[in-house]
Amino acid sequence: MDSHGVLDGRAAIVTGASRGIGRAIAQALAAAGAQVCVTARDPDGVAAAVRELTAAGARAVGCAGTVADPGHLADCVDLAVREFGRVDVLVNNAATNAPFGPLMDADPDVWREAFTVNVEAALRLTQLVWRAGMREHGGAVVNICTEGTHGVGPQVGAYGTSKTALLRLTQQLAGELAPAVRVNSVSPGLVRTEMARFVWETAEERIAEGLPMGRIGEPEDVARAVLWLVSDEARWVTGTDLLVDGGTRVRAAGAGPYAVHERLRGAKTTSRSTANRPTPASADAER
Ligand SMILES: NC(=O)c1ccc[n+]([C@@H]2O[C@H](COP(=O)([O-])OP(=O)(O)OC[C@H]3O[C@@H](n4cnc5c(N)ncnc54)[C@H](OP(=O)(O)O)[C@@H]3O)[C@@H](O)[C@H]2O)c1
Repeated sequence: MDSHGVLDGRAAIVTGASRGIGRAIAQALAAAGAQVCVTARDPDGVAAAVRELTAAGARAVGCAGTVADPGHLADCVDLAVREFGRVDVLVNNAATNAPFGPLMDADPDVWREAFTVNVEAALRLTQLVWRAGMREHGGAVVNICTEGTHGVGPQVGAYGTSKTALLRLTQQLAGELAPAVRVNSVSPGLVRTEMARFVWETAEERIAEGLPMGRIGEPEDVARAVLWLVSDEARWVTGTDLLVDGGTRVRAAGAGPYAVHERLRGAKTTSRSTANRPTPASADAER
């Protein structure tokens, strides 16, 4: 799709946009003409993302804070409306994979935090942009889920449960907000980001061999799908989940081995809030 100018005059909020998939989404929306408000907890990361977007010719603002804080969410929507006059696109991308490990070891407080970040924040932000004018002028919301919601996987019980709740939230909102606002989700397979580094870093070749498309994902693969969903090209699409997984779910028909579960089984079972500290030991807990 030639995306040049397809979002001209529109304004977007992308959470968790200082690196990884969120950053690629913010860049894709901006390149298509949107004004973009980026968020993340680390103010330096937010400032760097804004600089990058601005240098590329886009109009961008940043709002640092955690999506777990309702006050921060309200501030972000206020900022976007003040700066851009409207919010047409919301991408709920920020997430945590904590508590990682068997559910019998999960700290219920960390579990609750996962639902606050992965599910509640998406609802709160959708309510805020709806009330800030989206219900009148229309818009599009995309929630970033995961290919892993189709089933269970080792050590990822909390992550999978909260992302499955996000998937259902997407469908419910799609029904409730139509026809003014379209609500969809994108579910990535394993993508080369800090969150998932512990899965792919030392096993990429083996994992790729087991994927029908022969490679793990890049953040831009997901960003292109989000861009299409928020564009008018998808004007009759709502309540859908767009899998962007290199064929992960259809891998059983192919020949290669699949090494992701093996990597997850072998990973350390401490609670991790990986988005905090992007080290090789921290990661998204996929499948
Ligand atoms: N990578 C994969 O393989 C994969 C697969 C399926 C789904 N996903 C989903 O894709 C999305 C993006 O993941 P990613 O892999 O790009 O992760 P990432 O590289 O770790 O980036 C996460 C981004 O979210 C921000 N963030 C984290 N927690 C936040 C919070 N509480 N409040 C506000 N911002 C927060 C981070 O910045 P700060 O640390 O500064 O806050 C960063 O900008 C997530 O929803 C994830 O579940 C990823």
